[in-house]
Amino acid sequence: MELFQTADWKSEKHVPVIEIEKSDDLVDVKVVVGKEIPHPNTTEHHIKWIELLFLPDGAKFPVHIGRTEFNTHGESTQGPNTSTVYTEPTAVFRFKTEKPGKLIAVSFCNIHGLWKSEAEL
Ligand SMILES: [Fe+2]
Repeated sequence: MELFQTADWKSEKHVPVIEIEKSDDLVDVKVVVGKEIPHPNTTEHHIKWIELLFLPDGAKFPVHIGRTEFNTHGESTQGPNTSTVYTEPTAVFRFKTEKPGKLIAVSFCNIHGLWKSEAEL
């Protein structure tokens, strides 16, 4: 059984989409879940977090760039889906590197588990 699922983001709403912008040694990476097909965002079903890792060419172990948590999904004292406030599963990471390598984005859906995608830097 595969722990991490993956698919084409254009047809699967869970796949994190990696967008890269580079200037000199500064790298901006935006990771979006549900870019083409929006993922549900309710108290019962939502994306909990996105993480980004970087595996520099020639390295044995990846570097953990960061993690963004999404902690508000409509809940309030009135009950589920009543607050009208929902954090959206989009994360932005900025880091410096002089090396090329592989970016690995991982997202976690509270119902459908772990999803990943990769992109060359
Ligand atoms: Fe889901």
